[in-house]
Amino acid sequence: MAHARIKGTGSAVPEKVLTNFELEKMVETSDEWITTRTGIKERRIAGEGEFTSTLATRAAERALEMANCAPEELDLIVIGTVTPDFPFPATACLVQNNLGASRAAAFDISAACSGFLFGLSIVDSLIRSGAASKALVIGAETLSRITDWTDRNSCVLFGDGAGAVLLEAEEDNRGILSTHIHSDGSYWELLHQPGYGSRNPASVRVLDENLAVIKMQGNEVFKLAVRAMEDAAHQALSANNLAPSDVDLFISHQANRRIIDAIGKRLGLTEEQVFINLERYGNTSAASIPIALDEANRSGRIKEGDTVLLDSFGGGLTWASALMRW
Ligand code: UT7
Repeated sequence: MAHARIKGTGSAVPEKVLTNFELEKMVETSDEWITTRTGIKERRIAGEGEFTSTLATRAAERALEMANCAPEELDLIVIGTVTPDFPFPATACLVQNNLGASRAAAFDISAACSGFLFGLSIVDSLIRSGAASKALVIGAETLSRITDWTDRNSCVLFGDGAGAVLLEAEEDNRGILSTHIHSDGSYWELLHQPGYGSRNPASVRVLDENLAVIKMQGNEVFKLAVRAMEDAAHQALSANNLAPSDVDLFISHQANRRIIDAIGKRLGLTEEQVFINLERYGNTSAASIPIALDEANRSGRIKEGDTVLLDSFGGGLTWASALMRW
């Protein structure tokens, strides 16, 4: 049976850097608090003319180039995002147009920080079934556009960026070995954007009540994230009869260094097994895993034959894991 295998990775982040020291001038916070509580030192912020679709397009172009794949060969483009250019059409359709991927069906997935792994899971199934053979899965966000820049509890965390992978059907034992996706809607209020949907459409009230921005109960999310991501990681390993020591690289959603450290400790992973880049980008939601994957790939941190475990958690609540042989 055909496997979906990653043949190319790409990422793109805005040029503008926002450091913890600059945030000190915006809200009552300190570099020391942000660094010790989150591990984040700086994040990227989209500039004028930069949107989720432009970042996604740049990341996709790099993945296509690495895979030596022409846009016209694509069957599918799937984007995980909670910050689409417009409520509709899908940002994936804008990216399809930008790339000239005329044959590709394109749609977005709303699974917050798990959007990339949910997309990977869907596309993996479509490739295994024979319905698609070349596809882009992208995680792309401009969270800065829905961040409450007066709320120190959340504004220090988020950043903008995009990451993409090019998946191809391949008849060998490498590629995606398993994916697991989960949701628990009873916790939807812990992390959400109240405004601009059908419940609170655009209005003066939505602006007055500051509803068009991210609302997060960080502490609760933290506890649930550690537990859920540990479970999802174990699920991926046991589905493949593997132990944590078999993992060459663990790439978790990059939300908070303390969350990643806690999961690493619970799984018994060494520091060398765990990839972290959140100090430079903060939490880029659906983009964090594919950006990290691209950096790990391009820097040689992942080698052919390596076992790579991906693990995510986000609003919804949603969580997911994917295990692959590179
Ligand atoms: O992407 C997936 C979903 N998101 C996450 O995974 C985020 C998960 N949550 C977190 O990463 C952490 O909960 C935060 C980083 C958001 C907060 O860290 P914490 O250790 O849970 O802090 P806390 O919310 O318990 O707040 C501790 C104190 C509070 O002050 P008091 O009430 O103890 O006086 C906060 O007001 O820290 C204060 N605080 C800050 N102080 C300086 C909160 N944010 C800041 C800040 N600067 N930026």
